[in-house]
Amino acid sequence: MKKDYRLPSLNEARKRNKEVSDKVTFFLDEQYKGLGDGKKYYIITHGCQANQRDSETMAGLLEEMGYSSADDEKSADVILINTCAVRQGAEEKVLGEVGALKRLKTINPDLIIGLGGCMAQEEESVKTIIEKYRQVDIIFGTHNTTSLPKLLSEVIQTKQRKIEVFSKMGEIVESVPVTRFMSHKAWVNIMYGCDKFCTYCIVPYTRGKERSRDREDIIYEVKELVAQGYKEVCLLGQNVNAYGKDISDEYGFGDLLDDVAKTGISRIRFMTSHPWDFNDRMIEAIKNNSNIMPYIHLPIQSGNTGILKKMNRRYTREEYLELFDKLKKELPGFAFTTDIIVGFPNESDEAFEDTLSAVEHCQYDNAFTFIYSKREGTPAASFEDGIDRKTKEERLQRLNERVAYYANLNNQRFKDQIVEVLVDGISKRNSKVYSGYTPENKLVNFTGSDVKVGDLVKVKIKEVMSFSLNGELVEE
Ligand code: SAH
Ligand code: SF4
Ligand code: F3S
Repeated sequence: MKKDYRLPSLNEARKRNKEVSDKVTFFLDEQYKGLGDGKKYYIITHGCQANQRDSETMAGLLEEMGYSSADDEKSADVILINTCAVRQGAEEKVLGEVGALKRLKTINPDLIIGLGGCMAQEEESVKTIIEKYRQVDIIFGTHNTTSLPKLLSEVIQTKQRKIEVFSKMGEIVESVPVTRFMSHKAWVNIMYGCDKFCTYCIVPYTRGKERSRDREDIIYEVKELVAQGYKEVCLLGQNVNAYGKDISDEYGFGDLLDDVAKTGISRIRFMTSHPWDFNDRMIEAIKNNSNIMPYIHLPIQSGNTGILKKMNRRYTREEYLELFDKLKKELPGFAFTTDIIVGFPNESDEAFEDTLSAVEHCQYDNAFTFIYSKREGTPAASFEDGIDRKTKEERLQRLNERVAYYANLNNQRFKDQIVEVLVDGISKRNSKVYSGYTPENKLVNFTGSDVKVGDLVKVKIKEVMSFSLNGELVEE
């Protein structure tokens, strides 16, 4: 096959400039309309909320081309896998999945398989896919989502594999079609990329530099969602505190929170706030708006200053705890969760004990805990690591026990209380059992009747577990 593509380059993806990113308006070229008429697509999504939202864009583009969604992989003409590269495990899962799809291709040779997302931005992964996974017809990067119609049309015409991955930042593209997967909760991107370069993390390379969307575009999107009956928005960014810094000095995340709150949407969440630069203006906005949910995800990663420094997290243990205590005091009743990495290169027993003691101090409502995973191309990949796997696994287990203990302890306060739940789903096994989330982001399973997805209902909590609450609908 003639090589008409460039492999992605992590080296290039590392580069940053100070220029404000270009904004372009998307429109679908007429030649691609109708190309998918009568055909079906299926999207498999891995990774974070940014990927969930990107999959909704992929679905929107495909539907504008005429495709409709398939119930399963077997009935699809196009299968897209939106991948995550944050840990080795995530990548292995994707490769296993792609391997399994080969069988479908023998049944339907016209099936088109596309691989997008963060793995498509990595040189090594792309090389592996090119060499060993011939069933993949399209590889498209995180900056190339809007090229999907063009790439699909080329594959249909030429029956040749197409690869398009830009390593550099990319623009901000507005007016891209979207097919949202939920009708009551919506992801709203407020910014793309990350400039923090934590030494373990691949995201700044796979997502490019920090680019904020114009506030007018964000507010317009939320207003439209309100008009369509949406009850909740989650404002997305790898670190939302940095919102706006690339476009102006005057208008930041606190201001945006105030403006989003004014749209009248019932529930506002945001993800992720970095402890760095969580300023008073943000706290004020959170306090002043009752539709901003009482829930904050504040990743600590480690409780040891030495490790935090090696991670390039930009705060010490003391600075994190000081911020945490301040938030806890200023925002009573709020739930707090975090992310923690154990087994960072050469993390000593003492350093790990510092992480445990930080967990004892903060008593989180929940924590997402991970064993450090080496990512080629990141600075930490070259750090010496004398800690064996077994020690890392033992640390994770000890940590998880403490996390579960405090999760349970925090949930006790909901026993016999009446909470507000935004209904997400109805149990497949029993149509009288529903689930949803409280303002504090607690998962509630409850019994009742005549409840619909998207309803805001009152539930009396009868039973408390570490990671969920059980209750009964309160009839009004
Ligand atoms: N932008 C978010 C995190 C995005 S990645 C933030 O800074 O909070 C989500 C989580 O994955 C991180 O918080 C971190 O805990 C974990 N993570 C990232 N890279 C990792 C790696 N190489 N190994 C293990 N966990 C990792
Ligand atoms: Fe990764 Fe750090 Fe950026 Fe989060 S802030 S995405 S952990 S580099
Ligand atoms: Fe994974 Fe990319 Fe998100 S690496 S966590 S899908 S930004």
